[in-house]
Amino acid sequence: MNFFFIKLKVFLLISFCCTFFYLSLPKELNAIQTDLGASLFKYNCAGCHINGGNIIRRSKNLKISSLKRNGIDNPEAIAKIARQGIGIMSGYEDKLGENGDQIVANWVWEQAQKAWIQE
Ligand code: HEC
Repeated sequence: MNFFFIKLKVFLLISFCCTFFYLSLPKELNAIQTDLGASLFKYNCAGCHINGGNIIRRSKNLKISSLKRNGIDNPEAIAKIARQGIGIMSGYEDKLGENGDQIVANWVWEQAQKAWIQE
């Protein structure tokens, strides 16, 4: 085999690895965010909102029908509540850390879409 073909092979191998890495990256990041959202929820919210319910005010739960009824129709609205609280619920800005409000809100929103049924 001449030198040119060896170079070509190495080039193709590297391109293949890079493409594979690049394609798998967003999925990995998504999975990390989902895990983080789940644990943020577990430690900060599940005490009152176990399985998307509400042990204090039953009607103000995290199911899609209740959220929509109360005008909460996007993850940002949930993030704001997580940060600042609402009604008798206090805010958890300090505990959630940087971007934690967004991450937990995205997770809650996703669970609401799936009716809180774990896969
Ligand atoms: C100490 C109990 C408690 C904890 C912990 C708690 N909540 Fe709440 N949450 C409540 C109560 C009570 C309400 C209803 C507040 C009201 O309207 O007076 C509520 C309401 C909400 C609502 C509005 C639901 C609706 O249908 O109107 C959202 C969204 C929400 N909480 C998200 C969160 C998130 C996210 C966390 C974690 C960061 C969290 N909560 C932690 C008690 C809690």
